[in-house]
Amino acid sequence: MDEISAKTAGKTGTTPKGGDGDKNYVTLVDHTSGKQYDFPVLTGTHGPKVIDIQQLYRRTGYFTFDPGFMSTANCESDITFIDGEKGVLMHRGYPIEELATQSHFLEVCYLLLHDDLPNQKELQNFEHSIKMHTMLNEQLLKFYRGFREDAHPMAIMVGVVGALSAFFHDSMDIWDPHHRLVATHRVIAKMPTMAAYAYKYSIGQPFIYPRNDLDYASNFLNMMFAVPAEPYYVSPVLARAMDRILILHADHEQNASTATVRIAGSSAANPFACIAAGIASLWGPAHGGANEAVLNMLEHIGSVDRIPEFIARAKDKDDPFRLMGFGHRVYKNYDPRAAVLRQSAHDVLDELGIREDPLFKLAMELERIALEDEYFVDRKLFPNVDFYSGVILRAMGFPKSMFTVLFALGRSVGWISQWVEMIQSPDHRISRPRQLYTGHARRHYVPLEERD
Ligand code: SDX
Repeated sequence: MDEISAKTAGKTGTTPKGGDGDKNYVTLVDHTSGKQYDFPVLTGTHGPKVIDIQQLYRRTGYFTFDPGFMSTANCESDITFIDGEKGVLMHRGYPIEELATQSHFLEVCYLLLHDDLPNQKELQNFEHSIKMHTMLNEQLLKFYRGFREDAHPMAIMVGVVGALSAFFHDSMDIWDPHHRLVATHRVIAKMPTMAAYAYKYSIGQPFIYPRNDLDYASNFLNMMFAVPAEPYYVSPVLARAMDRILILHADHEQNASTATVRIAGSSAANPFACIAAGIASLWGPAHGGANEAVLNMLEHIGSVDRIPEFIARAKDKDDPFRLMGFGHRVYKNYDPRAAVLRQSAHDVLDELGIREDPLFKLAMELERIALEDEYFVDRKLFPNVDFYSGVILRAMGFPKSMFTVLFALGRSVGWISQWVEMIQSPDHRISRPRQLYTGHARRHYVPLEERD
């Protein structure tokens, strides 16, 4: 049987060929051939060690098999660290709870892009540069008119963000650091404008141009909800809540959409096309589409007395229903973002005078019951970032169809930061996974007249 067993050699093990003395290593034993292979173990700042198997196929003729990447690190990154067991999320070493309560979104954007918090001058220059890129080319606005008015805003975003590639030939040399910098600022600056316009188009209202006298979140809310016919007041509490929601969605290690951006970018595709690929991946209800799915679920459950029925359905393997906003590939503890959003929900509902929002009460009761149920406890299924965000966004006046667009708006800085890190990596190469082929063995063509 082609069985390979692995044992990790302790510090006293012989160093792997070409390794140095202080590195750990594992030895793979191929029981079919009796051969042994040492592979280096690499240690990061935090988190699990990794076995460097880049030479595995060349040396052993084996591939690894890991659909869904349950045990695979696809890159080395300095940007975000998650400890799923402890419910820890840090950006460049700073805990998300501190950033969400003490920083603001553009400062977090600077941190993700530049590895350190900015000083006063750096932040001022960064914010000015972002403000200088908030408008869209007037030709780009015509793209919106090509969509049906009932088009899902995520469909519009995939199209319009990808179309940015057609407008910035002056900054598409991805190997030029200045072009990369301009592209990152354009993504951060234009995403709010493009998102707001997707909404305005869907309700038949005129586009509201960006206002550079407003902060990032206030400008976005103004473009979303102002109308030319009258002044619009941006509530500072809602702007703060919006800014916090963007921070909480900014980056999250190698999630599906970020991995999509990295793979798209590995072919040296331009950054706008890569971000559009990330938006497409995020749209799925198993990923960023879950916030919209949570609201649909809460509205479908309707009342507290129906919660047991849906908990039972979520546990029934023959029923495709899952408790949206619960569970996570990495977090086997409470998603730290959900905890902050739960508090933000209280603040926003208080500000809006809808403390008794029935959907929020239903969400909290659903959480309480699920977290007492052994099915969810045994599988460590806790609320994730999507569980409370929809309740807040709905209370703020966003339609459900915009929830994932707002996720994409926050996550765009994470995508572009990870894209820059990948392009700048000294061992950057195209991502090209292999497979376990289980199809037909070689066979020969049968002419039509000879087939049954
Ligand atoms: C995001 O990766 C990221 O970082 C993503 C994200 C980010 O910031 O980028 O955090 C954002 O995508 C959050 C997740 C949003 N999705 C949802 O809320 C959808 C509902 N959740 C599930 O679809 C699921 O939990 C996933 C997709 C999130 C995780 O799936 P996994 O890791 O593949 O886990 P699994 O499907 O193998 O589940 C393990 C067990 C299974 O039961 P058993 O086979 O052990 O009996 O848990 C069960 C699953 O059936 N399970 C659920 C469940 N989630 C998992 N059962 C009921 N309801 C659920 N929500």
